[in-house]
Amino acid sequence: MRILILYESRRGFTLTVARAIRDEFRARGMTATTCALGTVDAGTLAAADALVVGSWVAGKIVVGVGPAAEAIRAIGALPDLDGRPVATFCTCDVAPKGTLATLEDLLLERGATVVGGFAFRRRGSLRHVPAYVDAIVPALERAGDAPAGAEA
Ligand SMILES: Cc1cc2nc3c(=O)[nH]c(=O)nc-3n(C[C@H](O)[C@H](O)[C@H](O)COP(=O)(O)O)c2cc1C
Repeated sequence: MRILILYESRRGFTLTVARAIRDEFRARGMTATTCALGTVDAGTLAAADALVVGSWVAGKIVVGVGPAAEAIRAIGALPDLDGRPVATFCTCDVAPKGTLATLEDLLLERGATVVGGFAFRRRGSLRHVPAYVDAIVPALERAGDAPAGAEA
């Protein structure tokens, strides 16, 4: 299974998490690469069996909290994902609020099959990367086996 990890990062932590996720996939013998969400091209997307999509959390801690505007824009510009399995993640300082649900809705609009997500808070959260990858590998594989539009 070829995994493409797409990230929107402003100051580098989301990129760090994306690279740690990539390295966990590779440690399991899978092919995984990272690419900035706003720069991915159709050919790179087409070559991936499954996607992981991550954004930093933007907002005012209690109000207006969600994925970064750049991520919202870039997901909206993706081609039809035609049932492609996708896992999500976000990074934040305090709380993601509805960020993962918003990412899921945006990706469902692009035709993805979303299998779940995780919020990485900056402090100490890289230790959760192995468990995150453990959880999403079988989910991505199951979703990838099902024909597009089929009930799980
Ligand atoms: C303008 C701005 C708004 C932010 N708003 C929130 C927020 O509402 N809640 C939160 O938990 N973190 C918030 N953060 C923190 C970032 O989501 C967090 O530091 C994230 O890991 C940054 O990722 P990056 O280093 O990849 O840019 C905000 C950061 C910035 C720069």
